[in-house]
Amino acid sequence: MKPALRIGALVSGGGTNLQAIIDACEAERISGKIVFVGSDNPDAFGLNRAQKHGIPTFVVPYREIIRQSREKRLAWPGDFDLEDCLKKQHVLPKDAPTHRVVQFVVSRAIAESRLLDEMAKYPFDLLVLAGFMRNLTPYFIDRVNTDPLLPAIMNIHPALLPAFPGTDGYGDTFRHGCRVGGCTVHFVDYGEDSGPIIGQRCFPILPEDTLETIKKKGLEQEWILYPECIQAYAEGRLRLERRTHSLDNGRMVERTVVVRE
Ligand code: GRF
Repeated sequence: MKPALRIGALVSGGGTNLQAIIDACEAERISGKIVFVGSDNPDAFGLNRAQKHGIPTFVVPYREIIRQSREKRLAWPGDFDLEDCLKKQHVLPKDAPTHRVVQFVVSRAIAESRLLDEMAKYPFDLLVLAGFMRNLTPYFIDRVNTDPLLPAIMNIHPALLPAFPGTDGYGDTFRHGCRVGGCTVHFVDYGEDSGPIIGQRCFPILPEDTLETIKKKGLEQEWILYPECIQAYAEGRLRLERRTHSLDNGRMVERTVVVRE
C-alpha cells in the first residue's frame, strides 16, 4: 500500500474546495492528509476552516510584498534567475512591456520565496491550489516540481478549459451564453490555467439560470471533482504523456496530456 499522500494547500478566500478536500481525507475518500494551509490573504476564511481541523496555517501577505517590491524596498531571493524566469513564463504575453513583466515576476518571486520558506516546514507530496488567486512564476513552480515525470501542483478552475482561463470562469461562461458550464482540475505549468488537464465535470445551463445559479452548480461539481483527482494522484494513477499529432495541413502539433490509469 502507498503511504498516505501529504497534501499542502494554498487558498485566498472562502475555501469551500479546501473543505471538500478536508472532508474527503477524513472520510478516507482521499488516502492522504492536509499538512498545511497557506494563504496570500490574512482574512481568508479558508484559514479558519483549516484551524478548526487542527491543520497548521500561515500567511504570506502578497499585497504588502508587491507594494514594497514596487518601491524597491525588498531584495530579490538569492537563488532567483530573472532571465530564466522571463524566458519560461507565459502568464503575461511575450510582447508585454518588459518593465511590467520584470515587475511582475520579481515581486511574485519575492513573495514565493517566503511561501517556499513556510512550506519547507511541512514536507508534502502534492500542492493543491484551492481558490488561490495568484499566478505562480517558474521560480516557484520549478522548486516544487522536482520530479520531471510527475508535476506536483494542481489547480481547480471554474470553467471547461481551455475555454475561459483567468479569474472569472463562471462569469465568462455565463456572459458568453454557453449551454454547458463546468470545472477543470489541471496540473500547473508556466502559463495561466494552461497545464495538462486531469479531470473535468460539466452541468447544463438553462434559460432561467443566472450567474449565481451557475456558480452554485459549478461549485457543487468542483467539490466532487477535486477530491476525485487528488485520489487518482494518491493512487499513482496519473502520468504525463507527450503526444504528437499531424494535421491535414501538414502542421505538427505537440501536446502533453495526462493519462489516467
Ligand atoms: C472556485 O470556483 C475555484 O474554481 C476557483 O476559485 C473558487 C474558489 O472557491 N479557483 P472556494 O474558495 O474553494 O470556495
